[in-house]
Amino acid sequence: MTSIPLLPKNAPFSAEDIDALNKVVAKSTPLQRSWLAGFFAGFEAAQGGAAPVPVAPPKPRSPLTILYASESGNAESLAMKAKKAATKHGFDAKVYDMADADMALLGKARNIIIYAATWGEGDPPSRAVDFYQDLMGDNAPRLDGLRFAVLALGDTAYAQFCEVGKRIDARLEALGGIRAADRVDCDLDFAKQATDWTDKALSKLAPADTGGGARVVHVDFKGGAATGEEDDAEPAFTAESPLEAEISTLINLNGTGSTRETWHAEFTTDDPAFTYAPGDAIGILPENDPVLVDQLLKVTGLSSDAALLLKIQKSYDVTTLSKPLVENYARLTGRADVKALLEGDALARFAADRQLIDLFETYPEVLNAEQLVSLLRPLPGRLYSVASSLKAHPGEAHLTVGTVRWESHGKSRKGVASTYLADRRKPGTSARIYVKPNRHFRLPADGSTPIIMIGAGTGVAPYRGFVEERAETGASGKSWLFFGERNFTNDFLYQLEWQDHLASGALSNIDVAFSRDQPEKIYVQHRLWERRAELQRWIAEGAHIYVCGDEKGMAKDVDATLVKILAENVKGDEEAGRLRLKELTKAGRYQRDVY
Ligand SMILES: Cc1cc2nc3c(=O)[nH]c(=O)nc-3n(C[C@H](O)[C@H](O)[C@H](O)COP(=O)(O)OP(=O)(O)OC[C@H]3O[C@@H](n4cnc5c(N)ncnc54)[C@H](O)[C@@H]3O)c2cc1C
Ligand SMILES: Cc1cc2nc3c(=O)[nH]c(=O)nc-3n(C[C@H](O)[C@H](O)[C@H](O)COP(=O)(O)O)c2cc1C
Repeated sequence: MTSIPLLPKNAPFSAEDIDALNKVVAKSTPLQRSWLAGFFAGFEAAQGGAAPVPVAPPKPRSPLTILYASESGNAESLAMKAKKAATKHGFDAKVYDMADADMALLGKARNIIIYAATWGEGDPPSRAVDFYQDLMGDNAPRLDGLRFAVLALGDTAYAQFCEVGKRIDARLEALGGIRAADRVDCDLDFAKQATDWTDKALSKLAPADTGGGARVVHVDFKGGAATGEEDDAEPAFTAESPLEAEISTLINLNGTGSTRETWHAEFTTDDPAFTYAPGDAIGILPENDPVLVDQLLKVTGLSSDAALLLKIQKSYDVTTLSKPLVENYARLTGRADVKALLEGDALARFAADRQLIDLFETYPEVLNAEQLVSLLRPLPGRLYSVASSLKAHPGEAHLTVGTVRWESHGKSRKGVASTYLADRRKPGTSARIYVKPNRHFRLPADGSTPIIMIGAGTGVAPYRGFVEERAETGASGKSWLFFGERNFTNDFLYQLEWQDHLASGALSNIDVAFSRDQPEKIYVQHRLWERRAELQRWIAEGAHIYVCGDEKGMAKDVDATLVKILAENVKGDEEAGRLRLKELTKAGRYQRDVY
């Protein structure tokens, strides 16, 4: 769990002033705190440096802007780490979310490091869209003399690998910027590569401008209430250092006649270092289906190697059919037909609905163990919205996992992590998990604020945690759940719990949309529209709106419906409605956790 650094009791202010300042600091966002830091540094410089007595002597520092475009937090956490490393390199670094940045910030920067993730199909993260469009647009400012370095985050499973980082890097150069360090494009196992690159980029940026920076006062927080580091603190359990947690409960939530398979999984630990907040995600480090690994070994002529099977089952990605993998396979085997897959859209056509096994079966070659492993990337973890409150279930994390199964090209396919849980784990066994904080999907700090929670299918997961948390903390604010699924009888996830929460008052309203219970399809966005008058009242009262679940199938339609609802107050002007939704986003009152 993270908390805001507060002024220690020994700060050079009266006790009353410390209380007053802490009230402001406790509510502040990282951007506001960075702004204040910059303001005071600038103020002191303008006063001729009449600064308070510093604990460490003030040093001139070179300004550095660190900017990130992030959806699920990876780029954000790299930016936060870069700030710490930058301080060691002698920079006065400030970190900005692209959501809060504009072209003026870019125009003023002299040295900049950008961490940019790619989402959708080669798109920027949702909160970074405006900045990205402005940067790519005709009115972007000239950036002559700006020294920049870009780290791109992505996943080689996607055709548009690291597209956003690549385009930002090229655009900064086209606008006159000077590339201080070459861009690096990182796959899902980015941790070490990113740390090494950050160090290199900081060294390259450092020598050009070591003077003239603001004078920064180093405050020693020792003995105070907070270290000042908690806000950006890494969780105790990460993908690189996971927790082995017991699976205490595993239940299929859908009825027997359902077309869905959604598992409620409870992970238990007595390790007090395991903490999370409602809205965070839990990562599962899965293991592959041994049957599939065995097929893979057989088709490459390695069938009898049990140790290799186990190693690949636990640690390597055996399903993703990526371009880098095909390039490496073509190089390794020297096959012209595999090389031909890399021309035009041949790979996109071949890879549609196919996996690695199809490549090996279609273009078979005998490989040795080393060659096979050299083709595979590490098996990435999968994220799941935490569906519980730690206050309601100490030592536990609950997840709601939809099982992925489909048929293609005559084969039964299985999602790696979801079927690892559904088929290959049982209560009493364990799995490796980690915590992925999501600072952009949080309950309001003030428990009296109304909340509107919109989700379909497994998108309901975080709301179970939200409502439990508000019940545990005695939050007085109203809460309203919009839930959508296919069928009332079989797919009403956590139905009894919602009824209990309604009875206790922890949940004020629930509206459901079951798409297949009537001839016409009804989805959550239809319910939102029907209930728009009351929704508008809640929004006017300051409600926070949350959307969680499928991006393509639900979140886009919900977004469009909210725009229409907000537009009603401005004579149906959709542009004004869109602007209002953006304002709500900026104010942290419209938060999305979509995938
Ligand atoms: C922040 C975040 C939170 C999330 N929260 C949840 C959650 O609470 N609950 C939840 O269930 N999931 C959640 N997810 C999704 C989850 O992380 C996994 O992506 C999902 O469970 C699939 O993982 P898997 O390993 O089972 O499947 P994978 O092995 O990763 O296979 C999935 C891939 O298979 C392919 N595929 C799947 N279905 C088909 C099909 N019908 N036809 C063709 N190809 C197909 C697609 O390429 C797809 O990307 C979340 C994702 C994110 C990023
Ligand atoms: C729904 C979804 C879509 C994605 N689309 C792409 C993509 O088109 N190209 C790519 O390189 N990576 C893609 N990724 C991978 C992310 O860029 C990668 O997970 C990155 O580390 C996320 O960084 P963030 O946590 O800062 O948002 C996608 C991931 C998800 C979950």
